[in-house]
Amino acid sequence: MNTSNNTTRLATFERVESQVRSYSRSFPKMFDRAVGATIFDDKGRAYTDFLAGCSSLNYGHNQPDLKAALIDYISADGIAHGLDMFTRAKEKFLASFERHILTPRGLDYQVQFTGPTGANAVEAALKLARKATGRDNVIAFTNGFHGVTLGALAATGNGKHRQGAATPLSGVTRAAFDGYYGPDVNTADMLERQLSDPSSGMDAPAAILVETVQGEGGLNAASAEWLRQIEAIARRHGALFIIDDIQAGCGRTGGFFSFDGMGLTPDIVTMAKSLSGMGLPLAVTLIKPEYDTWKPAEHNGTFRGNNHAFITAAAALETFWADGGFEAEVARKAAYLSERLEAIADAHGLRTKGRGMMQGVETQGGEQAQAICKLCFDKGLIIEASGSFDEVVKILAPLTISQKQLAAGLDIVDAAFGAVLGSQLAAAE
Ligand SMILES: Cc1ncc(COP(=O)(O)O)c(C=O)c1O
Repeated sequence: MNTSNNTTRLATFERVESQVRSYSRSFPKMFDRAVGATIFDDKGRAYTDFLAGCSSLNYGHNQPDLKAALIDYISADGIAHGLDMFTRAKEKFLASFERHILTPRGLDYQVQFTGPTGANAVEAALKLARKATGRDNVIAFTNGFHGVTLGALAATGNGKHRQGAATPLSGVTRAAFDGYYGPDVNTADMLERQLSDPSSGMDAPAAILVETVQGEGGLNAASAEWLRQIEAIARRHGALFIIDDIQAGCGRTGGFFSFDGMGLTPDIVTMAKSLSGMGLPLAVTLIKPEYDTWKPAEHNGTFRGNNHAFITAAAALETFWADGGFEAEVARKAAYLSERLEAIADAHGLRTKGRGMMQGVETQGGEQAQAICKLCFDKGLIIEASGSFDEVVKILAPLTISQKQLAAGLDIVDAAFGAVLGSQLAAAE
C-alpha cells in the first residue's frame, strides 16, 4: 500500500470515529494481524506487544489451541449467541472452571454471567452486596479502577474518568490503599478505626471492594497481610469482601486468582479481560452461594451468553490450568522481569512496582513515562503507562511470550529509559 492510501485510510478514523478513542492516539498505526506476542501493522512491520489488550490477552494473540477450538466450533455451526440458555459450550466452560479452578482451591462459588465487560461484572457485584446487606455504602480504595459505568465509576478513583460522568457519583466512600501514606502507616488500621467509631461519618458498608494489584492505578501491590486484615474488617463490620480480579487475575500475577495462596476467601470475585483467553468479551461475577440471592432476570443483559468465548475460555483452562506447568513458567518469567526492571530502576535511581507479570518502573512523572513509551513504540514495542499521573511504565506482556522475545522487548525498554533520562540529564547540565 502506498503512503497516500494509508493516510487516507487513517483519515477515516479522524472523520468518523468519536474523539473518545485513546490507545489509537498513542499507537497511530493500522494494525492487521497478530500472533503470540507480536502484532503486525498493515505494512507488515512487527511490534512486540507489552500491552496485551490491557491484560486481555494473557495467552497471547490467536493462541493455537484456543483458535483451533473456536474454528472447530464455528465450522460445526455451534451456537454463537444463546442469551442465557443452556448450551453445550456453556456447560463445557462451567465444568472446566469447576474442575480446574474451583475444586482444586476448595472454593465454592456460583458463577454469574454478567454482560460481557469488566464493568458489568463490577456492577453486578455492587448491586448484589447492597441487596444482600440492605446497605448502600461501598468502600473502595484510592487509585482503584473498576470500570466507567456509573456504579463502577463511583468506585473508581481516577479523576479523568470520574469527570466524564458529569453527574454525582454516589454510594462509595474512599479509603486509603495499602502503602498510600508510605510504608509506616497501616491504612487497614485507619479503616478499622473509622468503621468502629459510630460518629466517624463513614456509614456501615455493604461491601469492601479491592484490587490486590492496582493495574490502572499505578501497579500498587497490596501485601497479603493487609488484604487479610481488610477481609477481617469486612467480616467484623458485616460487609461483603469483594476482590476485583479483572486485570490481576487469569495468571497475570502468577496464580489463576491474584489472591491464590494468601488465605483469602472473598465473598464475591469479579473476572473478565483474559477469561475468554482470546480477547473475546466474557465476564463473570463469582458469588458465595449464600449471597446468590438474585431473582431470575433481576440483573440481566442480552450478551451474557458469548458461546464463542465459552469455547475459548474452556480451551484456555484445559490448556493452561489443568496442571501446575504454566504457573511455574509464569513464575520463572516474572522473576526474570523483576531482575531486569530492578536493574533499569537502579540505574536511574527509580523504583519498581507491581507483582508477577504485572510490573513496571515508576518514573519521575507522566511526561517522562510518555516519552519512554513513545520511544519504545518507535523501536517496535507497544507499551503504556499507568498511575495517577501516568508515571509508571507498565509491562503487561503476554504470559506465553518466549524468553527471547521478552528479553528483546526489555532491551528496548532499557534503552528507552537510558535515552530519555540520559537526554534529560544532559539538558539539565
Ligand atoms: C481492575 C479492573 N476492574 C474493572 C475494569 C473494567 O473492565 P472493562 O474495561 O472491561 O469494563 C478494569 C479495566 O481495566 C480493571 O482493570
